[in-house]
Amino acid sequence: MKRLAELGRKARSEVAAAGDPDALRELELRYLGRRGELTLILRSLGDLSPEERPAAGQQSNQLRRELTELIGARAQEMRALPESKSEATDRLDVTLPGTLPSPGRAHPLMRVWQEVEDIFLGMGFDVVEGNEIETDYFNFEALNVPRDHPARDMQDSFYVSRDIVLRTQTSPVQIRMMRQMAPKLPVRLVHAGRVFRRDDDITHSPMFHQVEGLLVDRGIGLQHLKGVLLEFARRFYGAETQVRMRPSYFPFTEPSAEVDVTCAWCRGKGCRVCKGTGWVEILGAGMVHPNVLRHGGYDPEQVTGFAFGMGLDRQAQLRFEIDNVRLLFVNDWRLLGQV
Ligand code: PHE
Repeated sequence: MKRLAELGRKARSEVAAAGDPDALRELELRYLGRRGELTLILRSLGDLSPEERPAAGQQSNQLRRELTELIGARAQEMRALPESKSEATDRLDVTLPGTLPSPGRAHPLMRVWQEVEDIFLGMGFDVVEGNEIETDYFNFEALNVPRDHPARDMQDSFYVSRDIVLRTQTSPVQIRMMRQMAPKLPVRLVHAGRVFRRDDDITHSPMFHQVEGLLVDRGIGLQHLKGVLLEFARRFYGAETQVRMRPSYFPFTEPSAEVDVTCAWCRGKGCRVCKGTGWVEILGAGMVHPNVLRHGGYDPEQVTGFAFGMGLDRQAQLRFEIDNVRLLFVNDWRLLGQV
């Protein structure tokens, strides 16, 4: 709290003293940027005890809002200054209070999206693009899900025509990128984007977001998958986070796993968010199925790989305690202004 109060004092006086837009931008970066002083404090809130956290969180968020507004107001002032000098001052009462446009902020989902990409970039993964409208071949067939496969039912989807579908998962990017790169090694990429399924309730939206990861090289094993996911979880949820893998099934990975992290809210003790289990499921993963490697143009006798697919909306919900996923998509300032 003391650090916050001091930071607030310092920031306020510096913003007031900033002489030009460049200085303001620099201040914004220093305090509110990705590695800004206040941002770092906000990120470290998780290290506080559950009793201290709410008050400290409220205070930090309040300061963040205040600084954002102050900087916005100061920028506005700077823009207004040169004009008011040249314009006829008898028609313009410059002493009237102005109207401040709200400076706006990044959507919670976009913040999480960028943070996740940054973490994987930092681990040497490339960020690649994909298609939201896919062919049946890339969305299903090449991923080892033939037309009559029961796994298609779970993704009952939006077809544009018999062979064109709004992608139900980001996994088709695996095939597209392998084909583009083969026979080069390693294939090491992440891709985030929208996916579509015919689901609609409080925990499902017909449009949601996933991050796909793929690493193909010689001698890749499950240990590499677990290591990468553990590193991701620690950077995203905090240094003490643990990861556990449960056996699961996906047609395009073998073996397959469901991956849980220790609940970031209760640190594994059990709470409402993790339904008392201490664990929260964040993604599906596994070793790339030989058929999938073949469809991508790689020889499963020579190379192996792992892949994972993570729900981004879920991470944003956990991070900002948003219980209804659909709230993310209605653009209501009462929600967006809080997080
Ligand atoms: N595509 C899977 C899904 O949407 C997730 C996944 C991706 C699983 C990659 C394993 C490997 O459920």
